[in-house]
Amino acid sequence: MAELLMEVRDLTKTFTSGSRFSRGGVRRVQALSNVSFEVFTGETLGLVGESGCGKSTLGRCLLRLYQPDSGQVIFKGHDITRLPEARLRPLRADMQMVFQDPYASLNPRRRLGDLIAEPLRVHKFGDRAAIEARLLALMGLVGLAPDYLSRYPHEISGGQRQRIGIARAIALSPALIIADEPVSALDVSIQAQIVNLLSDLQAALRLTYVFIAHDLSVVRQIADRCAVMYLGQIVEIGATDLVLHRPAHPYTAALISAVPEPVPGGHRTRQILQGEPPSPAKPPSGCRFHTRCPGAQAVCAETMPVLRAGADGRAVACHFPLAAGPA
Ligand SMILES: Nc1ncnc2c1ncn2[C@@H]1O[C@H](COP(=O)(O)OP(=O)(O)OP(=O)(O)O)[C@@H](O)[C@H]1O
Ligand code: SF4
Ligand SMILES: [Mg+2]
Repeated sequence: MAELLMEVRDLTKTFTSGSRFSRGGVRRVQALSNVSFEVFTGETLGLVGESGCGKSTLGRCLLRLYQPDSGQVIFKGHDITRLPEARLRPLRADMQMVFQDPYASLNPRRRLGDLIAEPLRVHKFGDRAAIEARLLALMGLVGLAPDYLSRYPHEISGGQRQRIGIARAIALSPALIIADEPVSALDVSIQAQIVNLLSDLQAALRLTYVFIAHDLSVVRQIADRCAVMYLGQIVEIGATDLVLHRPAHPYTAALISAVPEPVPGGHRTRQILQGEPPSPAKPPSGCRFHTRCPGAQAVCAETMPVLRAGADGRAVACHFPLAAGPA
């Protein structure tokens, strides 16, 4: 039986920019709207969707790097959206983030050893000798020679910098890692190495990943389950084999179809996504996808579909889900 690690309930996050005195006035963007899902120990949950749909905002709210407006993020039995900072600190060691651009997240003036040691010092891992031993162990885990510890970020390649980012993230043996587009900035051959490294570390350290990506092939490769987001909402979530191979939500189908992929021995109907997503500052009424959905009917513009679980364990938010064909 899968063990629940994190439960997210009705998470909502709004960004406000401008002021009533500025041109255009106050702009409110609801980046997340009533997002609910679960993360189980040892799994990889992929999170996909077009740019601006709220993936990074969700990742940051899960670690309370952003404070959500409402809703709950229950991690190991604690609602981290409400915990005071002092009680949140020990839990923070257990939840880490790996970013897309390792350059942006590494201070260029500090040696790599110092950068990896920082979370160890902040969380009082041990004395100098214990930290040095831990640094050597971490370099072994991420496949870098110990002499990298005395180098600077600009002296190493993008793939090596991502290995350093990962070493920093696993330094305190966290349970959960949110990886926000961790391979998007890397060359394809390096991407595969980093994806393999993440898989190996998951098996060795019993890590749980929330893996944000726009590259569906990477998600297919690494994710056990997959959540698809559209304009701040989850529209489909379930086993990757179902969601990304036999989609039930018209948006998931369009997202998959929009990816140029060779289909061995055959043609397939392409259902390209029409136009840009609507502004999250003014989401469409009813089903947010109705302005682009080829199967939209009158009810779709009026009533928002709820995320409903089916017999196959996948949940879909659509009044007229697609019939999922055989594998
Ligand atoms: N700090 C912020 N202030 C104001 N608006 C923001 C902020 N961060 C994100 N947004 C807005 O919230 C929405 C969701 O953004 P988010 O970065 O979470 O999307 P994303 O799915 O991660 O996109 P991408 O694939 O481009 O990384 C967007 O409309 C974005 O403009
Ligand atoms: S609810 Fe209607 S508009 Fe929305 S995805 Fe389903 S069929 Fe399309
Ligand atoms: Mg993002």
